[in-house]
Amino acid sequence: MDQASTLRQLVGSDAAKEQSNTKKKKRRVRVISITSGKGGVGKTNITINLAYALSSLGRRVFILDADLGLANIDVLLNISPPYNIEHVLSGEKNINDIIVNGPANIRILPASSGLSELAELSRDEQVKLFRKLGEIDQTMDYLLVDTGAGIASNVLRFNATADEIILVATPEPTSMTDAYSVIKILATKYHVRKFNLITNAVESRKEAQAVFERLHKVVHDFLQININYVGFVFKDPMLTKAVRMQKPLLEVFPKSPAGKCFYALAQQIEKDATTLPSLDVKGSAPNFWDRLLHWKRQK
Ligand SMILES: Nc1ncnc2c1ncn2[C@@H]1O[C@H](COP(=O)(O)OP(=O)(O)O)[C@@H](O)[C@H]1O
Ligand SMILES: [Mg+2]
Repeated sequence: MDQASTLRQLVGSDAAKEQSNTKKKKRRVRVISITSGKGGVGKTNITINLAYALSSLGRRVFILDADLGLANIDVLLNISPPYNIEHVLSGEKNINDIIVNGPANIRILPASSGLSELAELSRDEQVKLFRKLGEIDQTMDYLLVDTGAGIASNVLRFNATADEIILVATPEPTSMTDAYSVIKILATKYHVRKFNLITNAVESRKEAQAVFERLHKVVHDFLQININYVGFVFKDPMLTKAVRMQKPLLEVFPKSPAGKCFYALAQQIEKDATTLPSLDVKGSAPNFWDRLLHWKRQK
C-alpha cells in the first residue's frame, strides 16, 4: 500500500465522524500563507506538495499564487492558465471560469499578474476584485497562499490576513535572520501572535530541530512569542529533479526522503486543525477576502 492510501485510512475514521457532524458544524476553511524572509528557500515547492498531500487525504485544496514578480506555481506544474485575475477585473471572465484544475485535484487561482499590482489598483477595483473572489462557488478546506519573500506591502498583506502563517526557513543563517525580521514586523505592527515553522533543505532531523530551536529562542526572548514547529523537509536531489520535470515531487517521487516529509507535514497540519475553532461558514473563505480588502499598511 502506498503512503497516501495508508494515510487516507488513518484519517478515514475521523473524516467519516466529521462528516456526520457537518450538519451541526461546518468545517472551517483554513487560509494558510506560506512565506519566508529570504527568497528561494522552497515556498512554492512546499505549497504544491503540501497541497498534493492534503488532497490525497481527501481535503479540497486551493492554491492562490500570490508571489508577485516571481509567481511560478504554473511553471512548476507545467500549466498555462488561459485566464487570470486580470480577466476577472476587466469583467471578461467570472471568477469560477479562471480556476485551473491541477494534479491530484488541486485547484489553482492564477492570480499572479493581476494581484501583483494590488497596491496600485484603485479602491474601486480592489473592492470589485475581492467581491469576485468571494464568489468562488466551490467548497474548499484549505486555501494555501504562496506569497513572496520578505516584508514588502503585498507580502505582509497576505500574511497579516491569513488564518495561519507557515514560515519556511533553511539552515542558512541569512534565512533565519530574515525569518526573524518577518516575525518581528508582523508581531509588532500587525499583532500576529501565532507563527508556524517548516524547516527546509535540512541534512538531518537534528539539524532541522536546531534551526527551530535557534529561531524559537530569539523570537521568544525578544518578542515573547512561541513558534509552533510543524516539521521539516530533507534536502533532496529528487526534489530538484521533480522541479526540472515540472511535476510535484509527490507525483513523481512520492517515496523519496523529501516526499515522505511532505506526507508527515500534511498529517501534522491536519492534526493542528482540531485545535482551531469551527466556524459556521462555508465556501471560499469570505472572511479572508474581506480582511485582505480592508488591510492597511502600518507605519
Ligand atoms: N528540500 C529541498 N531539497 C533540494 N532542493 C530544494 C529543496 N527545496 C527547495 N530546493 C531548491 O530550491 C529551489 C527554489 O525553490 P522554490 O520552491 O521555488 O523556492 P521559493 O518559492 O521560496 O522561491 C528549487 O527549485 C529547488 O532547486
Ligand atoms: Mg516561489
